[in-house]
Amino acid sequence: MTSADPSTPFPVLRTARLRLEPLDDCHYDGLQHLNSMPEVMRYISGRPETAAETVAIIARVKDNWRTFGYGWWAFIDHASGQLIGAGCIQHLARDAANPLEIGWRLLPATWGQGYASEAARAMAGHAFEVLRVPRLLAVCNQDNSASARVMQRLGMSYRGIERWYDIDTSVYAIEREAWLARAALN
Ligand SMILES: CC(C)(COP(=O)(O)OP(=O)(O)OC[C@H]1O[C@@H](n2cnc3c(N)ncnc32)[C@H](O)[C@@H]1OP(=O)(O)O)[C@@H](O)C(=O)NCCC(=O)NCCS
Repeated sequence: MTSADPSTPFPVLRTARLRLEPLDDCHYDGLQHLNSMPEVMRYISGRPETAAETVAIIARVKDNWRTFGYGWWAFIDHASGQLIGAGCIQHLARDAANPLEIGWRLLPATWGQGYASEAARAMAGHAFEVLRVPRLLAVCNQDNSASARVMQRLGMSYRGIERWYDIDTSVYAIEREAWLARAALN
């Protein structure tokens, strides 16, 4: 069972099937399990994450929440209480001079059920409606069609190929006005 410290000052987001908890030490086991799976990391770093890397990432993310007020969330399945994925609003390439990106990853057993898009809508809604950011980008390996489909379902438009994270990525973008216009239709 995973649960965040209820005293956390950072935003917990809720969807029909998920609770998005700002990533914290309590998520270590679930995150290490997720990030050590080759299928999950195939189009990200291309290799499983080590335990030490997961510890370092949680420390960095906690720092980002304190510094920026956004970062990574753990996706907790209401039904099981388990961490089934993670996602973020963060600066591309972890550089505050770069635009903000939205990102996601899920345990393979949960693919094909709409969880990533459900969590992505909650994270984007928070970014545009609460943080009032002007624009979100998303980038993926050009072969990562499943992730590109999440971007398209979110209403993002293809912007071209750009080099991020040392690879030539497909880049998608959505402006705040476009998000709000879509939200008004739903
Ligand atoms: C990228 C990733 C999160 C996409 O996961 P996903 O399950 O395909 O995406 P969603 O959760 O949005 O699910 C959408 C799929 O579920 C289907 N689905 C089933 N039930 C659904 C429901 N109730 N609601 C919505 N979609 C549903 C949709 O038809 C869609 O299928 P399709 O893509 O074949 O058309 C997943 O492939 C992953 O974790 N990959 C490894 C990590 C990674 O590469 N992350 C991205 C880095 S850029």
